[in-house]
Amino acid sequence: MQILDDISTRGFVDLGIYEPEKCISKIALQLGRYLGVRLHANFEQLTTNSTTAKPQNTYAGNYGFSELPLHTDLAHWYVPPRYILLRCVVGDPEVSTLLLHHREVVAQFSEAIVRRALFRPRRRLEGKLFLMRLRDNGIFRWDQLFLTPDNHEARQVRNLMISPHSSFKIMEEVTLAEPGRTILIDNWNTLHGRSLVKTIPSQRRIQRIYFHEEGYDD
Ligand SMILES: [Fe+2]
Repeated sequence: MQILDDISTRGFVDLGIYEPEKCISKIALQLGRYLGVRLHANFEQLTTNSTTAKPQNTYAGNYGFSELPLHTDLAHWYVPPRYILLRCVVGDPEVSTLLLHHREVVAQFSEAIVRRALFRPRRRLEGKLFLMRLRDNGIFRWDQLFLTPDNHEARQVRNLMISPHSSFKIMEEVTLAEPGRTILIDNWNTLHGRSLVKTIPSQRRIQRIYFHEEGYDD
């Protein structure tokens, strides 16, 4: 029950070094059953490389070793994944995962701005282009790379989010330093990012798996 409490109040759960003898797939199956969500494909292995090593349509290809700005994973999808599970394989004690509950963002704007802000994906998805609200149907989405503001309200949101002076009261930080250290993020309510990577080349390896809400197509 603690997991459900944390996920609804903080928007993520730090599971600590969680059942280190098990693989991420087994843990994801257990958690998925517990949360009533289904797994999206297999896990991916995240490494940190220079921007030239990864495609331009990925975060890694754009930011490399630099700080990854706060974002929703797959924010340009009609329905982004519900939860993200991140698990450390090889840690770097100098690199933190940053987490910001969307209530901190919403608090900076009037209700009207939050309701009206419209974005469009940078590219068409399956040939279709549809507008997306900042917050709609229980999903809060933000991504400065893949979403483009479509109206004045959305530009106001972007200006705040890309400003280095943005001051959010509660920015949480988790360091995935030890093998097995695991966090579960509510991707519909909480933005995440990563501090810059100072040790290059980086040995850091993190596994990631997505969960989808039942009843939604991926
Ligand atoms: Fe991400």
